Amino acid sequence: MEGVALSAVAREFGTPCYVYSRAALTSAFAGFDAAFGPHPHLICYSVKANPNLAVLDLFARLGSGFDIVSGGELARVLAAGADPGKVVFSGVGKSAEEIGQALDADILSFNIESPAELHRVCQLAEAAGKKARVSLRVNPDVDPQTHPYISTGRKQDKFGVAFEDAFELYREASHLPGLAISGVDCHIGSEITEVRPFLDALDRLLTLVDRLAAGGIAIHHLDLGGGFGIRYRDEQPPSPGAFVRALLERLRGYPQRILLEPGRALVGNAGVLLTRVEYLKPGDERNFAVVDAGMNDLIRPALYEAWHDIRPLRPRAEPPRRYEVVGPVCESADFLGHERDLALQPGDLLAVMSAGAYGMSMSSNYNTRPRPAEVMVDGGRPHLIRTRETAAQLFSLERPLG
Ligand code: LLP
Repeated sequence: MEGVALSAVAREFGTPCYVYSRAALTSAFAGFDAAFGPHPHLICYSVKANPNLAVLDLFARLGSGFDIVSGGELARVLAAGADPGKVVFSGVGKSAEEIGQALDADILSFNIESPAELHRVCQLAEAAGKKARVSLRVNPDVDPQTHPYISTGRKQDKFGVAFEDAFELYREASHLPGLAISGVDCHIGSEITEVRPFLDALDRLLTLVDRLAAGGIAIHHLDLGGGFGIRYRDEQPPSPGAFVRALLERLRGYPQRILLEPGRALVGNAGVLLTRVEYLKPGDERNFAVVDAGMNDLIRPALYEAWHDIRPLRPRAEPPRRYEVVGPVCESADFLGHERDLALQPGDLLAVMSAGAYGMSMSSNYNTRPRPAEVMVDGGRPHLIRTRETAAQLFSLERPLG
């Protein structure tokens, strides 16, 4: 990675270990940013994909804003030195405490997901003597043709305000003293590999923007969410630039600032999970390669049957065998890959590819497994950006009854 041998990273920091490339992160960001040309825009990196402070710091320096979904993520982006004026707050369950924190920070916009939330934000803003900038997250009822667990913009999903109700709710919001209407927002799902669902959603949003304008309600920004797909195996998603150009084409004549909330497309292919083969366990029906990373470290295969390429750092000349690549966790769902043809020996190092997004951020301590170290390669050197956890840290907050 960037001229650094991953085997050297494994030797220095141990396995399992997440490794990210600064150059890949930077160029993914530039791919979105540059495609806008002179059109006013703000890329709000979706923190949940990979919230490491070093990643946030890097994007903040590149001029990125942030899409957050919790008080915890707000604290992180502020700790990373982000400009709160570039932060949007999404999510269906914002607590009063979290809203208060975001009001204190004076964020760019609350992406409102229900009438009840709209009223809560208004009340809290009024009590604090502030005006909260808000966008309604409109559910455009389009099917993004992706995994149902990561579809968010269909009618049956829990997210956003129904398209038919949005106009009335904007009208109401325009009369509420604690609110200032800033934009319209939507997010239809994740790992979307075609432009079409984005254009369908955008068309619906623009109808609403026109109707609001006719009703005297000005919209300053359009937040089109995230969801831009990447290549894990043989997907052929448009490049970030192609996504942006298709959207801009449809936006001709609309001067509004465009916000995007990409997560996966900025970090997914910028990272790998390094793991070591502990045991080979040949069998009559299946051969198992037991590795030192498990579903607690990377849950995507277990949760979505997601496919990640698994590559040996040093390919062997022997003929491959078909393996189930499994972790040490006590669950049959603990696998990283099914039916992979690999030539392996115990001790071999493997890279689980495309693991920069929703890898570490969805990891857990199940089986009291300390989470991996995280490393960022930059300038021909690996830098430790998160120390490997220790078992003692994992139970340090617990108390016996005594
Ligand atoms: N904006 C909102 C409001 C979101 O809910 C999400 C992701 C994003 C932006 C960023 O989406 P992205 O550009 O990364 O697709 N854990 C799943 C993905 C869940 C996505 C949740 N929301 C996975 O590992 O595939």
